[in-house]
Amino acid sequence: MKITIIHGQNHKGCSYHVSRSLVEKLTTDDNISEFFLPKDMPEFCIGCYTCLIKGKEYCPHYKYMKPITESILKSDLLIFTTPVYCLRTTGAMKALLDHYFTWFVVHRPREEMYFKKAVIISSGAGSGMRQAAKDIKDSLFYWGISDIRIYKLRSLAMSWSDVNNERREKIENDMIKLAKKIKNNYDKERVSLRCKVVFYLMRMAQKKDRGSGTKDNQYWLEKGWLDDKRPWKK
Ligand SMILES: Cc1cc2nc3c(=O)[nH]c(=O)nc-3n(C[C@H](O)[C@H](O)[C@H](O)COP(=O)(O)O)c2cc1C
Repeated sequence: MKITIIHGQNHKGCSYHVSRSLVEKLTTDDNISEFFLPKDMPEFCIGCYTCLIKGKEYCPHYKYMKPITESILKSDLLIFTTPVYCLRTTGAMKALLDHYFTWFVVHRPREEMYFKKAVIISSGAGSGMRQAAKDIKDSLFYWGISDIRIYKLRSLAMSWSDVNNERREKIENDMIKLAKKIKNNYDKERVSLRCKVVFYLMRMAQKKDRGSGTKDNQYWLEKGWLDDKRPWKK
């Protein structure tokens, strides 16, 4: 199982340690690519729309995005970690996700996404874990990923060293269970009804737009999705 881990922070704190506990139960280090934000992608989207008009490879931040994108596309499982910052995900994580807006199903979704699984680990001292995870989940869903699991940790701590043994033991047990579920589902390809409904709504819009010559419409035509092909059918 090839895994990409994207950390919404540079430090190795609570969310980092939860993710490491999970991956050590899933695979060896050889199959893991890991990125830390903002170190590995320090730029904000500048709203130039170059990705939409010309393509992602023309993004002014492509040199940072390229290795992350290649790793995501090659992976079976994507793990996103985030501490809660002011009841949301970190700005660094949001900045990364903004760079993938052309992957939204309304524009140019990637068929690879319909076969991937994702885990979001959200760690907060007290509250906001659900909202922080949702900030990430919304993007992943609109990329076309159906199988998204969320793990929320109430750390009651500022750093990993402050997390007590009882909580660490619970995390360990929770990760054993989560790893088991992921492994059991590994070969199951299931695209949710909600994911398909969103795809078909966007397909209707693209059908109306047929022949408009926009890059999005050309993409849908080339993929054959306005005819019989579907991104989740190999
Ligand atoms: C800028 C900042 C904002 C924070 N905002 C929240 C918050 O809204 N809710 C919360 O429960 N914890 C908040 N925290 C605490 C962290 O989310 C918490 O300590 C978390 O477990 C840290 O995870 P990490 O070790 O992976 O960074 C905040 C911490 C920082 C530095």
